[in-house]
Amino acid sequence: MVGRLIQTTINGTVYRHEVEPRLLLVHYLRDVLGLTGTHIGCETGLCGACTVLFNGVAVKSCMVLAVQADGGEITTIEGLAREGTLHPVQEGFWVKHGLQCGYCTPGMILAAYQLLLRNPQPTVEEIRHGLEGNLCRCTGYQHIIEAVRYAADKMKGSAP
Ligand code: FES
Ligand code: FES
Repeated sequence: MVGRLIQTTINGTVYRHEVEPRLLLVHYLRDVLGLTGTHIGCETGLCGACTVLFNGVAVKSCMVLAVQADGGEITTIEGLAREGTLHPVQEGFWVKHGLQCGYCTPGMILAAYQLLLRNPQPTVEEIRHGLEGNLCRCTGYQHIIEAVRYAADKMKGSAP
């Protein structure tokens, strides 16, 4: 293998690895780092199951090469809870029944998290628009929207 050394900060921890230039970020997270909360659905950029935050922006990690993440900062679903306490977005999905099989959930939560960072009190239409790149086969989306509204209310006036 002709590898390239990359350094990334993932959920606050610095990692250095030599990786193949063709390795996708989603495979780096899952297979090299064991962060399997990031799911793989379509691998074509359509479903959003692999969504992570890359330098604060929600990206589909099946559309990013690991080498492109060199020097970057990434948040995965494993990085949202703090000291055993769910993040309000995670709590919202739980309380409002925003998941069934849970396959889409990590990506949905990270997309919702980014939406609330940019727009702390989104309307229903804005939530729908913010999550339209993420597909769910199970919930019919209404509970997901309620989960995001729950999180927005809970986060009001507090740090994200
Ligand atoms: S697995 Fe990346 S968008 Fe579907
Ligand atoms: S909860 Fe099953 S795909 Fe969304």
